[in-house]
Amino acid sequence: METERHDAQVFEVNDNALAVLEKRYLKKNEAGDAIEEPIDMFRRVAGTIAEPEVDFGIARGLSGDEARAVSEEQEKRFLDLMLSRKFMPNSPTLMNAGRELAQLSACFVLPVEDSIDSIYDTLKHQAVIHKSGGGTGFGFSKLRPKGDVVSSTMGVSSGPVSFMSVFDASTDKIKQGGTRRGANMGILRVDHPDIEGFITCKHDNDEINNFNISVAITDEFMERARADLDFDLKNPRDGEVIKTVRAQDLFRKIVEGAWLNGEPGVVFIDRINADNPTPQFPIEATNPCSEAHLPAYDSCNLGSINLERFVLTAAQAEEKIAQNGRASGPRAPKETDCVDWVALKECVRTAVRFLDNVIEQNDYPLAEIARMSRGNRRIGLGVMGFADALVKLGVPYDSGRALELANSFMEFIDRHAWEASRDLAEERGVFANWEGSVHNARDGRRVRNATVTTIAPTGTISMIAGCSGGIEPLFAVAFLRRQAGMEMPDVNPEFVKIAKDRGFYSEDLMRSVAEHGSVRDVEEVPEDVRRVWVTSQEISPEDHVNMQAAFQKHTSMGISKTINLPNEATIQDVADAYTLTYSVGCKGVALYRDGSRDEQVLSKGSAP
Ligand code: CDP
Repeated sequence: METERHDAQVFEVNDNALAVLEKRYLKKNEAGDAIEEPIDMFRRVAGTIAEPEVDFGIARGLSGDEARAVSEEQEKRFLDLMLSRKFMPNSPTLMNAGRELAQLSACFVLPVEDSIDSIYDTLKHQAVIHKSGGGTGFGFSKLRPKGDVVSSTMGVSSGPVSFMSVFDASTDKIKQGGTRRGANMGILRVDHPDIEGFITCKHDNDEINNFNISVAITDEFMERARADLDFDLKNPRDGEVIKTVRAQDLFRKIVEGAWLNGEPGVVFIDRINADNPTPQFPIEATNPCSEAHLPAYDSCNLGSINLERFVLTAAQAEEKIAQNGRASGPRAPKETDCVDWVALKECVRTAVRFLDNVIEQNDYPLAEIARMSRGNRRIGLGVMGFADALVKLGVPYDSGRALELANSFMEFIDRHAWEASRDLAEERGVFANWEGSVHNARDGRRVRNATVTTIAPTGTISMIAGCSGGIEPLFAVAFLRRQAGMEMPDVNPEFVKIAKDRGFYSEDLMRSVAEHGSVRDVEEVPEDVRRVWVTSQEISPEDHVNMQAAFQKHTSMGISKTINLPNEATIQDVADAYTLTYSVGCKGVALYRDGSRDEQVLSKGSAP
């Protein structure tokens, strides 16, 4: 860990994080050299995101001086949260806030209507969004099927899959703002006549490389598959039944694809729309990693709380219990006693304010997107470092206690995020589309944001924060990293600490753990430690799914989570996982069978 010091403030950054920051996030001069330090980046972000406080303050009757004081106070809080690695906004905010390209959101959904004009307008809009660092999702379900007539030319349509490859090819040509490659989600409804070709399009065609694909599954389809009934595929133009299939056969095809290489995923579209807080704008698609469920032209800016930072040591927990005057006498603290809930609540409130301010500062790539995003004010506060928090608390990921903790954390975060949004509505007013929203219709609840919580993968920001990603379990306890021509063990620092504290540390042992990736079969590691340091592929699909469901229960939009299966998992195992995901109330599923993709990004026992 290197420590950067500026005034009294510190940002601890490890080598991996520093490399990522230097490559993609820090301001550079024309020669390509970074001209800001990580701490300057966080200052730039905090300062920019606190600016709207001045106008908001004046609008609610504060004097200029008072409003500026509020802005300064919030700026300090924003900066503190980021420097202490308790909270990080999504990458585009870190990269672009306070810079010329002030596009701050990670997620967008664009419409695809059944006309050449619409398709090619959206193609252009996709390019504009990718250039600015955002990811795009598209629902292709309104496009007429392949072979259907095109009346103006008396020709035939080439269908959704073919148009998707046009979007894919265009993505290749646009590198996102010089930062990251464009990512897309392509979605087709399960009742579209081209669904079978869509399911296998990434197997049949190695040209589609920049899309994740998902089938939008309806409740009717799930019921028909369960009852082994037929299912109609209909032309979206006029509802004409083009083909009737056995629902179970179609389900099998989806599952076989997922078994083969993880695609397609599925989203439960009726469930997503049933929970859409703005039903006046129906949802047909999601962002690339599928956690943000958005109507056409909407966007979402994400931010994630690092749960590990809120876990107290046993001594701190004892002290907290003593201070709170519990008269129950000495006892071992329960896990929830080891969480600093007061600090977590403060963090949630500040993060909601931060994300609401991001909407003000966002320079949207299109007028339609600006209108919809400001109209709904969707924000997506999520979590990361959950697996790190569990190992600190000594709780195995695949245990009932972990599910209870997931429930406690997310229920608490969601509740306080809504409370913060309610308080913001009092200060700043409700979101513009509030009147037609369920918040008004259902309970007259005045809130500032249509949604407040979403759990993102946190692929890069968890690296910057030095914690485990999203709500995923640990991928490995250690791996071998090639360094200066040698293979060196890179071991989770918390594991090293425990090994030293418990007296089972040795360099040989660390190498052995790195070779295995996991500690399950390493006898020198005490049994209870082995149990807690469980890694993703050792966790059963049911436990993965149940964890996703526990977080989903308290999340406004969706969850990014991979259900990991061992390489030897069967097609039936995949089918069971999909069915379970639906029955426990998840909004979708992304599944991965170990080793099933040629290029596995990170493989156990080898350097990433
Ligand atoms: O950690 P970071 O903020 O970089 O992103 P993430 O949490 O891994 O991904 C959040 C969202 O950012 C994704 O669901 C996509 O919408 C978008 N994204 C993208 O457009 N391109 C990428 N290479 C990665 C993410």
